[in-house]
Amino acid sequence: MSEKMLSAASLGARILQMAGQLSRHSDQPDALTVSYLSPAHRAVAQDLAGWMREAGMRVEIDALGNVVGRYAGAHPDAPVLMTGSHFDTVRDGGRYDGRLGILLPIAVVAGLNASGERLPCELEIVAFADEEGLRFRSSFLSSSALVGAFDAALLDRADADGIALRDAMRAAGLPGTEASIRALARDRRQLAGYVEVHIEQGPVLLDRGLPVGIVTSIAGSVRMAAAVTGLASHAGTTPMTMRRDAAAAAAEMILAVERRCSQAPTLVGTVGMLAVPNGSANVVPGRCDFSLDIRAGDDATRDAAVADVVRECEAIASRRGVALSLTPLMRVPCARCAPRLVDELEACVERAGVQAFRLPSGAGHDAMMMARLTEVCMLFVRCGNGGISHNPLETMTADDAGVAAGVFVDFVRQVGRQVGRR
Ligand code: HGY
Ligand code: MN
Ligand code: MN
Repeated sequence: MSEKMLSAASLGARILQMAGQLSRHSDQPDALTVSYLSPAHRAVAQDLAGWMREAGMRVEIDALGNVVGRYAGAHPDAPVLMTGSHFDTVRDGGRYDGRLGILLPIAVVAGLNASGERLPCELEIVAFADEEGLRFRSSFLSSSALVGAFDAALLDRADADGIALRDAMRAAGLPGTEASIRALARDRRQLAGYVEVHIEQGPVLLDRGLPVGIVTSIAGSVRMAAAVTGLASHAGTTPMTMRRDAAAAAAEMILAVERRCSQAPTLVGTVGMLAVPNGSANVVPGRCDFSLDIRAGDDATRDAAVADVVRECEAIASRRGVALSLTPLMRVPCARCAPRLVDELEACVERAGVQAFRLPSGAGHDAMMMARLTEVCMLFVRCGNGGISHNPLETMTADDAGVAAGVFVDFVRQVGRQVGRR
């Protein structure tokens, strides 16, 4: 077998080149924004499908628009090893978040295929169409369907233009039916595990001078939509003591989130969206909407913070004479990576000549959903520019992508061997 096809240098360069090509598809001219089923999103899916085919995989675009590539193994009856990540982005995001975990395995499979190497078991790459949930506030839409946890109520949820999810699906040539999505649920007995490669999105590996790290667990998150209703009134004539200002109340609530979520090491709370719908400079805000995202390394810490934040926001609302409604949008429990796979990944990192380092993930990943179905593990890759992500400044080097690809090749060979023997 020619290892040249699988050299770290050529894999790393190819991965970055594909990420560059995908970043040309965007919903916005001056930013990388790829929301579920937009024209740019569908163009990305086509590129991915094309590269998977060139790499010798059977390719299918499923009922959710996920691009699924299968590299047949030597033992067709052996359970399948699954890998993947998402190709949608946040608004004005980076080019590696999610995509690395699709492009790296594609580059690896292309190398295996070119050198005529079959793994003992099938390797399946799932390019998840919707993880960030930007357009329909539908985080983990794709992976939730694969684990049989699809929430059918989402089909009626509308985007900012009033288009329902089911109509967006039909417009994109997908069935848009509950049955077609339910049919995507996988049988756990046919899976040998799930491994996801992802950019770290933080500064830990950069600080330690390490190209890759092994993830131990993934923080769980709770997301809510908050709507504060006060009374819109004249900005010039309503005395300060007689206002029911929804935005001022929301501001106080945001500070309460910040205060409470600063009280435990892994706990974080974020208000990333804030709006005064139909506001005007000369009107006291009658309504203010905001998003709430609270996470922690364990469910108990996070849930205690959520309960306190809700109580405090309600107290602020009642003191200020405004109404508060909180709509739960998401609750994903923390997920542990499987010790067996973590150890295996660690051995691969060491064989690559890199010091093994374990770290938790503060960001959410499809792996946390897949953990409901099968054993999971994750490999993080160093994030440049101080570790910034969800930002166009997100970056990584071809060298680091190459190291990660080398670790991944070793991992799929090892796990494949074990699975093929079963
Ligand atoms: O929000 C998150 O953690 C992720 O980037 N989906
Ligand atoms: Mn992200
Ligand atoms: Mn991601």
